[in-house]
Amino acid sequence: MATRLRLDGADAPASQFLTDSFQRGLARWNRARLAPQFPGDDWQKDIERDARLLRLEGGFIEEQRAAVAAEAAAAPTDPEGFVAWFEALKEHGPGQGDPLFPWLAETANRDELRWFFEQEAAGEAGFDDLVAYTQVKLPAQAKLELARNYWDEMGRGAAKGMHGPMLDTLVETLAVDPAIETTVWESLALANAMTAMATSRRYAWHSVGALGVIELTAPGRSALVAKGLRRIGLSDRERRYFDLHAVLDLKHSADWNREALVPLVAEDPRRATAIAEGALIRLNAGARCFARYRAHFGL
Ligand SMILES: [Fe+2]
Ligand SMILES: [Fe+2]
Repeated sequence: MATRLRLDGADAPASQFLTDSFQRGLARWNRARLAPQFPGDDWQKDIERDARLLRLEGGFIEEQRAAVAAEAAAAPTDPEGFVAWFEALKEHGPGQGDPLFPWLAETANRDELRWFFEQEAAGEAGFDDLVAYTQVKLPAQAKLELARNYWDEMGRGAAKGMHGPMLDTLVETLAVDPAIETTVWESLALANAMTAMATSRRYAWHSVGALGVIELTAPGRSALVAKGLRRIGLSDRERRYFDLHAVLDLKHSADWNREALVPLVAEDPRRATAIAEGALIRLNAGARCFARYRAHFGL
């Protein structure tokens, strides 16, 4: 693989979007607009607010696209070639092999693991809802794969198997209080980018790529976080979210690539480039988080 566009800080100073105030504002708007609500008298004002923020959100994603466009354009556009390129992101993608995770596994103390987890939990956009938004009007084979993935997120219909509540259990166990106000902007930016791609139909293929690259890269990180949590004494039940994703996402990833990526790209090769951009946007957002967390820990 040729040189990768990472953030070396190079894109940070010039960006009006990679800032604390912008990402915090976007996170608050996402929380408000996606919550189930009752009709109110201010709905016309809400539409004006939404229009203004949708424009800003679009500017944010377009800036992130511009940073990865050249690399994504170099990805193969035939289905098998594309999946091979996509799977190679596991080894060579931005943020892969970050030294933060071995440190969390081997060295971090309870407070450090708590801080890391609090950042991650607050930045968690809800994989299940992102999949649900993304699957609207997708072709049948891909839609079925997103449905199977969603069903797993839902614990296949059993509350105790749902992934979201498993994360909540860990929030309680570690007594953390995830909140926008105490979360670094890099983590908010990751969730904001995922939400933007899943909820804007013009980024539907980007979202398929971004979600797929989470499945591809989560197992390695989850295993190391689970190791750290075991080391500080958490029980099997308390660690379950990370133990589960260390294994289940290997299957989710293989299924996603075979059942969603291959047929989508076969049907329209232009989707390969969009999926690649979405995956790289997600990986860059993750890499920014890891760098910020390492700086916080003085690593
Ligand atoms: Fe999950
Ligand atoms: Fe998964």
